Amino acid sequence: MSNYHIKHLEEYFQVYRKSVRNPEDFWEEVAEEHFFWRKRWNSVLEWDFTKPEIKWFDGAQLNITENCIDRHLRSRGDKTAILFEPNDPNEEAEHITYRELHERVCKFANVLKDQGIKKGDRVVIYLPMIPELAISLLACARIGAVHSVVFAGFSSTALATRINDCGAKMVLTSDGSYRGTKTIDLKGIVDEALQHCPNVDTVLVAKRTGEEIPMQKGRDKWLQPLLDKAYSDCVPEIMDAEDPLFILYTSGSTGRPKGMMHTTAGYMVYTAYTFKNVFQYKEQDVYWCTADIGWITGHSYIVYGPLANGATTVMFEGVPSYPDYGRFWEVVEKHKVTQFYTAPTAIRALAKENLDFVTKHDLSSLKVLGTVGEPINEEAWHWYNDHVGEKNCPIVDTWWQTETGGILISPIPFSTPTKPTYATLPMPGVQPALVDENGKEIKGNQVEGRLCIKFPWPSIARTIWGDHQRYKDTYFSAFEGKYFTGDGALRDEVGYYRITGRVDDVIIVSGHNLGTAPIEDSINEHPAVAESAIVGFPHDIKGNALYGYIILKETGETRNRDNLKKEINQLITEHIGPIAKLDKIQFVPGLPKTRSGKIMRRILRKIASKDTSNLGDTSTLLNPEVVEVIMKESL
Ligand code: WT7
Repeated sequence: MSNYHIKHLEEYFQVYRKSVRNPEDFWEEVAEEHFFWRKRWNSVLEWDFTKPEIKWFDGAQLNITENCIDRHLRSRGDKTAILFEPNDPNEEAEHITYRELHERVCKFANVLKDQGIKKGDRVVIYLPMIPELAISLLACARIGAVHSVVFAGFSSTALATRINDCGAKMVLTSDGSYRGTKTIDLKGIVDEALQHCPNVDTVLVAKRTGEEIPMQKGRDKWLQPLLDKAYSDCVPEIMDAEDPLFILYTSGSTGRPKGMMHTTAGYMVYTAYTFKNVFQYKEQDVYWCTADIGWITGHSYIVYGPLANGATTVMFEGVPSYPDYGRFWEVVEKHKVTQFYTAPTAIRALAKENLDFVTKHDLSSLKVLGTVGEPINEEAWHWYNDHVGEKNCPIVDTWWQTETGGILISPIPFSTPTKPTYATLPMPGVQPALVDENGKEIKGNQVEGRLCIKFPWPSIARTIWGDHQRYKDTYFSAFEGKYFTGDGALRDEVGYYRITGRVDDVIIVSGHNLGTAPIEDSINEHPAVAESAIVGFPHDIKGNALYGYIILKETGETRNRDNLKKEINQLITEHIGPIAKLDKIQFVPGLPKTRSGKIMRRILRKIASKDTSNLGDTSTLLNPEVVEVIMKESL
């Protein structure tokens, strides 16, 4: 029996039991079997969820890029590591072998060094889905710089906040980006952001669209000429197991995004292990995750997890609807993709289109289908299973978070029998618990509660950059001695988990995690707005869409409502990005509040979802009369 690769259900149970009875032995064996260490650890795990402090493989030394690249050179030098599929189907796909990847990462790393980047420095990456993006992550890791990728759909304000929060002095970007028929001026967004980032002294610009763009003297440099001159080998920086690998921001319940900090060894071991098992990757397979590397899914399951396993990982620059709604399936056919991993929102959008877009392509290469980011509804699950998998490919519904670094609950294909809408069983080493409002663990099956994890797994985020107290308050204070996920879940009669959705102020829109607070903060900046409250409501394609209840100041009351709505969405776009725009805006005379002044979002959610039959007790509200008005005028 190998701990590293689970091949049938009995083995899963055996491995799982062992991983819970003796987590340290379990992870030690995994770490020993499949990775390259410069120095062995002194202890496998030290942890204290009250501080909280978590250390995996403390004392060990390594470089993650040696594990993701160098050690494959002998046996897989000519194998494709990254298969780049451009936005335009007429542009040729690029096959980057492990040997080429090594050279390109080394050159990039040397450029970073030449530009003054040292171990521990933060580098913000604001790049589209082009090879330079994956390469830049690895180049940072090669020299021990901490990368912080900001999704290239975020606005200049969101970018500036993140640059300043992590204290980066360098930004990597490109002249522009392609998305379907659109060209986006990324460099322009960076220029705007940098007006508010005094610490950034260098911007390296990759060429993609070839648009004419202004370059600020002394600060902005074209990347390619520097790469051309760079030496093609770079000795990896030897990192401690717990040295930071990257910071990735996620939204929270206050306006400031949380910079989740992940460290080196545990993250590597866990993402590699889960990639191997959840996707059952075999040597000749071509694996494709459609996420953007700007999200944790891309970090863990486009870059690090696959490359640590010597896999071929597809990077797709485009969108599912360009040139038509068959693009995903055209790419699957073209590259004979074996594992395909996407989000429920994409599945729902494609399921709405003509079935010919799917059936005209040969999808027989597919073996495993995955979903991530939000609960998948039953119809979408069946459409995916029937038409994409042709009932022949297990669907892995993978539940996890930016904070968890890797997949925590998922079927293991060909082992775990799947069940629509269920993420099923925990990965080895993961100990979930359902907890009631009072923090008491709910044992047994056929129960529902708040989802917590009782024991550390190797890729848990170690802190929020610059704010350890917030890390403790957000994740370890709600339920003593447990990591609280923010999700609700139920456990069925056989112990399968189904994630029911967020139980906090986070709303998942098209698989994107959006906090209500930052959106409300941007709306409230409008001079005509007095106060606002955002809730989610069910949406056919996005899963959830945003509904804003807005109180206008007296001065706003006289303004044209349609114009106001446009201006408000414009503000949101500027502060966060178009993904956070409101689908519905209702101007209201007041918001239902408790006597302590807290907005009763539960009531607003029900009204937004047109589910007003049972609003619950409104008598304790400060202003119950306002509920009637809001209901009457609801959209
Ligand atoms: C939140 C985390 C994990 C990468 C993408 C999102 C929701 C995620 C599932 C799933 C139901 C899911 C949860 C979670 N979520 N995967 N398979 N089923 N819900 O990362 O932006 O950090 O969001 O996404 O609510 O807490 P994220």
